[in-house]
Amino acid sequence: MSQHQTPLFTGLLKHIEKKPIQFHIPGHKKGAGTSPEFREFIGHNALAMDQINIGPLDDLHSPHGIIKEAQELAAEAFGADYTFFSVQGTSGAIMTMVMAVCGPGDKIIVPRNVHKSVMSAIVFSGAVPVFIHPEVDKNLGISHGITTDSVKKALEQNPDAKGLLVINPTYFGICADLKQIVDLAHSYNIPVLVDEAHGVHIHFHEDLPLSAMQAGADMSATSVHKLGGSMTQSSVLNVKEGLVSAHRVQAILSMLTTTSTSYLLLASLDTARKQLAIEGHDLIEKAIKLANQTRKEINEIDHLYCVGEEILGTKATFDYDPTKLIISVKELGLTGYDVEVWLRENYQIEVELSDLYNILCIITPGDTEYETSILVKALKDLSDHFKHQADQSVKPSVLLPNIPVLALSPRDAFYSETEVVPFEESAGRIIAEFVMVYPPGIPIFIPGEIITEENLAYIKKNLEAGLPVQGPEDSTLQYLRVIKEHKAIK
Ligand SMILES: Cc1ncc(COP(=O)(O)O)c(C=O)c1O
Repeated sequence: MSQHQTPLFTGLLKHIEKKPIQFHIPGHKKGAGTSPEFREFIGHNALAMDQINIGPLDDLHSPHGIIKEAQELAAEAFGADYTFFSVQGTSGAIMTMVMAVCGPGDKIIVPRNVHKSVMSAIVFSGAVPVFIHPEVDKNLGISHGITTDSVKKALEQNPDAKGLLVINPTYFGICADLKQIVDLAHSYNIPVLVDEAHGVHIHFHEDLPLSAMQAGADMSATSVHKLGGSMTQSSVLNVKEGLVSAHRVQAILSMLTTTSTSYLLLASLDTARKQLAIEGHDLIEKAIKLANQTRKEINEIDHLYCVGEEILGTKATFDYDPTKLIISVKELGLTGYDVEVWLRENYQIEVELSDLYNILCIITPGDTEYETSILVKALKDLSDHFKHQADQSVKPSVLLPNIPVLALSPRDAFYSETEVVPFEESAGRIIAEFVMVYPPGIPIFIPGEIITEENLAYIKKNLEAGLPVQGPEDSTLQYLRVIKEHKAIK
């Protein structure tokens, strides 16, 4: 097989060309039974490709035909021993990684700013998290990754951990020295699991940070759909055998995956892999150049700052992905969310993410100078519009809360007897649910942590800014679910 081939996509096309008479699900039968308005918009081809795991189309749960071939080509392209396709996003792949190495009571070393899927897997598996504080950038108001020094300390104190999870790159494109971290963990025979949700492309260009597989990690959960050209929800789980078993990974991924796997998603993984392997380098080169040019132009605008390579050089900022445009807007006296809404309302621009201090825009092979010129024009307009309220002599401070103390394992907290208390009266109690801002989906509270006034204030600040705080059963956040306290009988 060669990287020019697409066994899964081609196999599907051959099957569709035969015009099979289908007495199987999906019941819309190539779109004939679906709503006409949907059919008209989405088109016949997509509906004809919406198949199910009948004999000729293989089965993601036990691949032996076209899916197996497509996964083998992906493994070759990503430098893995095995690649598994996920139709449950990178969240599904992350949960698989954690559950493949941890059982009840096992320790796993994780940065505290992990995506919620890591914490979900910790609750499901009954693993005990050993948290590492991520490095905080007080100027930008964002968290970076973890440092080699903090990993070293965590390993020395927890040589019995069953795994180390690293986010590489972070949502904002910042990387630690992954190779050094992997070597350290391996000196303890501890497998390294990489959340590579924001790094599918880095494997395919030498100017970008090392990918998980290049750094020698044992597993990586990689969102092909985010930056690699496949359809939303499609990701891969790459495995290097040695410290982890590919059979166990397959078994757990299968436990967590729907039996009705979407062939649209699977085929898009096959074709995206081909594109990355064959043309990825050139396409990514173009995206890097476009992003660098855009960064330069944004930095010429008063009161805005677009992060570049000057961020490198600290222990947590070993490398970065220049295709991510982190734009700090705090000097304009606006929140990132204010800017997100302003860009939407005035220029129909949708950013990837906003927070209290920044917006994040991603540049990919899908962009051209046309789009970036509109972004630059819009940001100039924004700066003109709000310059009256900008005061360069005052350096606005950023508020990032401390990480709360974990009083109970997340699983024990999640399954404890609980009660609901008013948000304002919850400080000092142990929370039984997640609270996070999505995106990026990093928890402010996880089950088992002690609620502090400071973190409640941070949640309020996010809510007041209009940012999407999610997680609690009460979506209005007037109440929080906490562990029930049993008072002594008088
Ligand atoms: C750091 C990080 N990890 C994991 C995920 C989950 O990826 P997915 O949306 O593909 O499930 C995300 C999604 O935003 C993320 O930002």
